[in-house]
Amino acid sequence: MIWIVDYANDELCPDISRTTAFFNLKGQIMQNYEKARGKTSRRSFLGQALTAAGTAIAAPTLVNQATAAKDTTQGSSKGEMSIILNINGEQRNLDLEPRVTLLDALRDRLRLVGSKKGCDHGQCGACTVLIDGQRVYSCLALAVMQEGKAIVTIEGLAKGDTLHPVQEAFIENDGFQCGYCTPGQICASVALLDEVKRGCASVVTPDLTRPPQLAELSEAEIKERLSGNLCRCSAYNGIVAAVQQVAGQKPPSPVADVMVSEFKETPA
Ligand code: FES
Ligand code: FES
Repeated sequence: MIWIVDYANDELCPDISRTTAFFNLKGQIMQNYEKARGKTSRRSFLGQALTAAGTAIAAPTLVNQATAAKDTTQGSSKGEMSIILNINGEQRNLDLEPRVTLLDALRDRLRLVGSKKGCDHGQCGACTVLIDGQRVYSCLALAVMQEGKAIVTIEGLAKGDTLHPVQEAFIENDGFQCGYCTPGQICASVALLDEVKRGCASVVTPDLTRPPQLAELSEAEIKERLSGNLCRCSAYNGIVAAVQQVAGQKPPSPVADVMVSEFKETPA
């Protein structure tokens, strides 16, 4: 068995010839030994059987190993897989190594750089995208596992020139400063609002006997539900106010009032 394991990654012919040679040699030695002693013993019988069985078993095993190795290298010398991802309603063809994250596939291969790489370790939320309506850290998701799912990135939220209501609310409520965390914050907020509409509770939902309501979403609950998205600029007040605004809560934040009135008063 040592010989098979040691040479499993080498070429087929040396494996078979070496393994077969080992069994043949062992059988030959035993036969000669028994002949010299002038008798056939149990030991001789086992030696011959081992030779035949070893050759029969080793050959197909090694052929299978060699075939498998050939299959993985035939498609691409880099071991890539051909996949189709549904991103923002479009089918995108990609050849990727299985270890590539969705975030890297989006940014480096598809040039969809709206999703940001903050920590690359599932700790900051800057890479948040929507997969089948659920928010996901794309830095922790393998791209090859997303086939057949609907992926929406920040680039897919607006409809042409019309921003998504959450995008508008972020602008109106000053929900960002440097903007690096903002794509992830917006995707997470979109998912948050959908989660509430679906009746998903959070750990701070006060009443678990009935589904949570958008109109009753408290500031503490919004903060808890967005706790997976960090903002180094600390634009949290504006982010919470943006979510409150889209949730239909009145009045919107004082910041929103100032921003909207300033905008309206500015001469064209
Ligand atoms: S980059 Fe994915 S969580 Fe930070
Ligand atoms: S706006 Fe700068 S990190 Fe959030």
